[in-house]
Amino acid sequence: MIEVRNLTKVFTSGFLKKTRIVAVDNVSFKLYDKSPTILTLAGESGSGKTTIAKLILGFIKPTKGEVLYKGKNIWKMSNTEWKEYRKNVQAVFQDPYSSFNPLKKVDNVLWTPIKKFKIIYSPKHPYTKILIESIPVPDPSRRWRKKIVIPETRLEQIKSSGCKFYNRCPVKTAKCITPPPLIKIEENHWVACHRYS
Ligand SMILES: Nc1ncnc2c1ncn2[C@@H]1O[C@H](COP(=O)(O)OP(=O)(O)OP(=O)(O)O)[C@@H](O)[C@H]1O
Ligand code: SF4
Ligand SMILES: [Mg+2]
Repeated sequence: MIEVRNLTKVFTSGFLKKTRIVAVDNVSFKLYDKSPTILTLAGESGSGKTTIAKLILGFIKPTKGEVLYKGKNIWKMSNTEWKEYRKNVQAVFQDPYSSFNPLKKVDNVLWTPIKKFKIIYSPKHPYTKILIESIPVPDPSRRWRKKIVIPETRLEQIKSSGCKFYNRCPVKTAKCITPPPLIKIEENHWVACHRYS
């Protein structure tokens, strides 16, 4: 079992004027190995998917939080435990296009795995809604939204602790400058947004 607990990764760059990029901000989830499970991380370019993968694989060290394998922090493993981990937890990095069957329509390729998740049927979070809407549909009467771009989240914003989507959210209200609570919508469906509080 792999557990990601409050995982945060801040990259710093620049020499004199240091800029800090919060690539992963307080991410938690569990992946059980009792039955085959697929976990999908969805987000636009720059939202931190690859960074989470690198943190899980131990390629980079988290700024905060931990990756646990069978309850053990991967950075606190003995050589033997680490070898075992590397043997059992591996990545398949591939050209995403090569895994697409060219005979299948692109929308099929995207929708077939995605449709399995009910979150896609009833997205709640304003950002998830925008993400789902941005999946191209081959319908000339529906215009494809222009590319959505995520501005880099600065550490100051974390400190100010309002909703991270505040700047881009079309439905924000005054209370969104305070941290959004995590609200249960139904079994296995949660949303962190003031609209539902
Ligand atoms: N080594 C690094 N040094 C500094 N910033 C980095 C580094 N790696 C990633 N970043 C930044 O962290 C953020 C998250 O990047 P990441 O590659 O994890 O996104 P992604 O979701 O995988 O994007 P894509 O869909 O384009 O693959 C981006 O702002 C990126 O510029
Ligand atoms: S908490 Fe507010 S700003 Fe954040 S996604 Fe919800 S409505 Fe938008
Ligand atoms: Mg990536």
